[in-house]
Order: sequence, then C-alpha cells, then structure tokens
Amino acid sequence: MCGIVGYNGKEKAVNILLDGLSRLEYRGYDSAGLAIRDKKIEVFKAKGKLDNLREKIKGKRLKGTIGIGHTRWATHGEPSENNAHPHISNDGCVTLVHNGIIENYREMVLKLESHGYKFYSETDTEVLANVIDYYYKKYKNGPMDAINRTMVRVRGSYAICVMFEDYPDELWVARKDSPMIIGISDDGLYAASDVPAILKYTRNVYYIDNMEVACLTKNKVTFYNLNGDEIKKELKEIKWNLSVAEKNGYEHFMIKEINEEDEVIKKTFNSFVHNNKIEFPISDDELKNIKQIYIVACGSAYHVGVCAGYIIEDLTKVSVRVDIASEFRYRHLELDKDGLVIIVSQSGETADSLAALREAKSQGVKTLGIVNVVSSTIAREADYVLYTLAGPEISVATTKAFSTQLIVSYLFGIHLALLKGKITNKEYTSLIKEVSTLGDKTKKILDKLTNDIQKLSSEFANVKDAFYIGRGLDYAISLEGSLKLKEVSYIHSEAYAAGELKHGTISLIEDGTLVIGIVTQDDIYEKTISNLMEVKSRGAYIITISPENIDIPFSDYKIHIPNTSKYFYPSLAVIPLQLLSYYISVSRGLDVDKPRNLAKSVTVE
Ligand code: M6R
Repeated sequence: MCGIVGYNGKEKAVNILLDGLSRLEYRGYDSAGLAIRDKKIEVFKAKGKLDNLREKIKGKRLKGTIGIGHTRWATHGEPSENNAHPHISNDGCVTLVHNGIIENYREMVLKLESHGYKFYSETDTEVLANVIDYYYKKYKNGPMDAINRTMVRVRGSYAICVMFEDYPDELWVARKDSPMIIGISDDGLYAASDVPAILKYTRNVYYIDNMEVACLTKNKVTFYNLNGDEIKKELKEIKWNLSVAEKNGYEHFMIKEINEEDEVIKKTFNSFVHNNKIEFPISDDELKNIKQIYIVACGSAYHVGVCAGYIIEDLTKVSVRVDIASEFRYRHLELDKDGLVIIVSQSGETADSLAALREAKSQGVKTLGIVNVVSSTIAREADYVLYTLAGPEISVATTKAFSTQLIVSYLFGIHLALLKGKITNKEYTSLIKEVSTLGDKTKKILDKLTNDIQKLSSEFANVKDAFYIGRGLDYAISLEGSLKLKEVSYIHSEAYAAGELKHGTISLIEDGTLVIGIVTQDDIYEKTISNLMEVKSRGAYIITISPENIDIPFSDYKIHIPNTSKYFYPSLAVIPLQLLSYYISVSRGLDVDKPRNLAKSVTVE
C-alpha cells in the first residue's frame, strides 16, 4: 500500500529515489512522484507505473541532494497525476509523501477550510500536509512540534516523509501503523517503507516505532517521542544480500521466487529443527496449557491457516478456529483465556491481521506471529514470533512465503502434538524427517514439471472460468490455487469443497469448463474422484494433481507429485498450481508481478 523513499546526503537524490521506488513498486503502482530540493523544492508526478515518471523527468538536470519519492496504491481519489504524491500545503511550506489512511480527514478538511485552506486533490494526504502546515504556523515551534501535534490530532495509519520549505537541510519522518525504516551510510541517510529500497546503499538500519518522529540531516538521524524528547535507538544490520531482491535473470519475480521455494523451505526448517528436535521460543508448559487455537490471517496467509487448521486439529486434538482477519476483528468474539491466537502474515503489516492481533492482546490472550518481514509491526507486537525465512518476496502474488508458512505450521502442529501426548516420540521423529524432505521434493517437482506446465498453460490462456476442487486439505490448497490464478491472470476462478459442488455451483459446468481436482488425501480421495466424475459427465475438462499412487483414469491431464505424509501434501500440490497461474498470466501477456488493483502489503482496512 504505497511505497516511500527519502534521501538526504551527498549524492544526487533523483537516482537514489527512482531506484528505491523501483524496488517498492510492488507496494502500489498506479502513480508515482518525487520532490527534490535544490534551491527550491520541485515536484514531479505521473499517472501509472514508475517508467512514466522517469519519462517525465528525462533530460532534467535535478542536482538536489535531498528529496522524497512515492509510488501509490490509491485509497482516496482515483489514480491520477493530481492525486499522486508528493502533496504540498497551500503555500508550499510543507511537502510530503504518505503511506496509510487518515480516517478523520473529512473532519480535518472542515477545520482547515474554516481557516481558509483550499484543496486541489481528493486525497487525505493533501489534508495531512495542510494539518502539519496549520500547526507549524499556529504554534511556530518548528517541524517536530507541528508533526507531533498532527499525530495527536489525526486518526488512522501513516508513515510520512516530510520536507519543510524553511528547513532546507532536513527531512522529517514519522509513523503510526505503517512501516518505515531509516538507513544510514557514509553517503547519507535514507527513509524507506521496506528494506529492498535501500539495500543497495546500506545494511544498517533503524526501525522507527509507532508515534515516533525522526529528523534526518546529511549525516545524522535523531529520534523523538511524542513529547519531543530525544530517544536512543539501536542500529540493526540487515543480513540479506542484494541479489535476493533482484530478478537474477528470471523474467519475473514470481517465477524467480517459485524457483527459490526448495531452498527457503530448507532454511526455514533448519532454523527450527536442531538434532531432530523442534525448538520454538515458547515454553513447553505454556504450550501444553493451550485449550483453543485461533488462526487469523488474510488472503494466501489465511489459506495457510486453513491448511494449518486441519493439520493441527488432527495432530493435537486441540480445537482450531480459522478466521479471515477482517471478519475476526469485528465479530466481538469472547476469546478463550487459555487460547492462543496465531497471526500468519508475510509482511507483518496487514492492517486487519494487526487489528486482530491487538484485539486478542486486549482480551489478554497470548499471541503468536508467523511472520516473514523481520521487525514488522506484527512481529514486534505479538507475544511470540516464528520467522519464516523466505527472504524478501517482491512479486505481489505470494509463493515462497506461503510455502515457508506451511513449514512452520507443520512444525508447530508436530511440536504441540508431542507436548499434548497425542503422538509418540517415534511418530514425532518420523514426521519431522518427512518435513525435512519437502525441500528436495519441491525441487524435483520444479525440475520435472515446469516445462510441461508451461505448455499446458498456453492452452488455457483464454479460458473464462476455472474451478478448483478438493476435500479436506485438498480443499484448503484449492483455495490457494484459485486465488493465485485469479490474481495474476484475471480469469474468474472459484475453489469449492468437492462435496459441495452439487449444491449449486455445478450448474456452471458446461462443455470445456476447466476443473482442477486436487486429490492427495488417502482417506477421502475416492469421494473426490466421484465428484470429478460428476463434472466430467457434464463436459468439464479435468486436470488432476495427485501422488503417483492415486490414479484418476478419466482425468484429461494428470499432474503427479511425489509421495509424502497426508499432512504435507499442501506443500507439494501448491507448486504446480503456482506454475500454472504464472504461465497462464505470461501467456496472456499480463504484468505478472504487479497485477492490476493489487498491492503487496495491505495496510488499510
Ligand atoms: O502480508 P500478508 O501475508 O499479511 O498478506 C496477506 C494477503 O494480502 C496476501 O497473502 C495476498 O492474498 C497475496 N497477494 C496473495 O498472493
């Protein structure tokens, strides 16, 4: 949901800002803009992708060494040049970029209008610039005071990077519930929504917390709390190397990230399993006392939750309730005090998931985050965090983070099952051993199936609808297959519990309708096969994904995956589904990594 970059240093800001924005485009790409200060602040904006902005400033000699940039995912106001950031206050005193939503912006508009302010855009961000301007002029106590007063006055979420006309050598940053990091190098200081934007220049970063303000000069950053008192922060080192955030010869990040899955699965497994024992940062006693588990997440992370729900419940016999975060947060559930709320999130910033976490904490229930982005808000606020080691995921459609979240879920289920006395030591060891093979099995699938699925995909590039069906865990993974297809190919698709089709949806099946059957679960596969037969009889074209030992003779196209334990098939079945979605999107000539209307990290409700 919008990407921000700021720079104040010795180098020309324009190149650093454009490079940083290009690495944040996954956060939003319906318009982009930057403000650079040489003698005065100059603002450039363009509708559409970053290349349009590049085109616009081509040939301009922008020498300024301080500036801010933004790539937008529209919330208030259509994607247009006028609504693009940076936004400027009425007399140009304040120029800012913003990621988030100001919820009470209408109220602020009325207040400001009564003081003579006028607005040129439909955005809440322009209002924010003017609120800062208003307090700046009213109290005449400088930038920090104006920003602090604004933070107290506005509601919502924001990360902002601000330039004041009167302070040519300073860049101001503040945040609440939207991510922001500050990087530091010999060449200058950087502000960014995410690490990849500045990794080329520095690995040394500060994490700015909620309701904190920072002032970046050319060689120093100073942090303040809401009272204006200076606060000290610890400098952290980012361990990634830049290549993880580059395409490395692949045409798209999505296919690069699919091809990284075997490695990140192993890495994540190895970070929790030592000498065949699972080690988590939660005490055994605490886990043993858990009476109820809630798994809460959005999108693909929710689908991991659905898989985890089946697995953990079956292994541990503890009841698991899986909820979509945007529903959970307004359901006003009275949570079991002996429960554990697990939030699954790649970004660790998803607004609804974060709100669900806070709701659980407010009820005094323990929380556990399964998170990919280190030091993200969910990771910091959860009582415990289990990091997935997927590395930076740039493609908007998640693939490798999904796979690592599954691994953590399996390990959690196995660990808890042993603590609860529901599996023997022998079963524990054998399940762990099986999880340890999933990286290699994933690699095998990638090597064996990529070319075939590429060919198959070109045949389905023009289908109108697709249905994904399965039972139990196969249904859970159908949900993910279907979401993956629709988000990157814009083909309408639905996932259905195979047994539920004939209660309505089967009326949509006609000659040639594409139905993808996931058939991996020993105890129920025959029932899914019957359901597939039902759609086949009505003319469907059937693709099946199953292990070698499950044969579906009437399937029109069979995809076989290696054998594993019944619990772990989601990891193997999802790979061909991801490949299928990717190659269908490529065949349709779409922008795979940045599908329309989407953003990687959804920091608004
Ligand atoms: O960062 P999160 O894991 O919390 O994000 C949740 C969803 O927004 C995300 O999984 C989304 O559904 C992906 N684009 C799917 O590929």
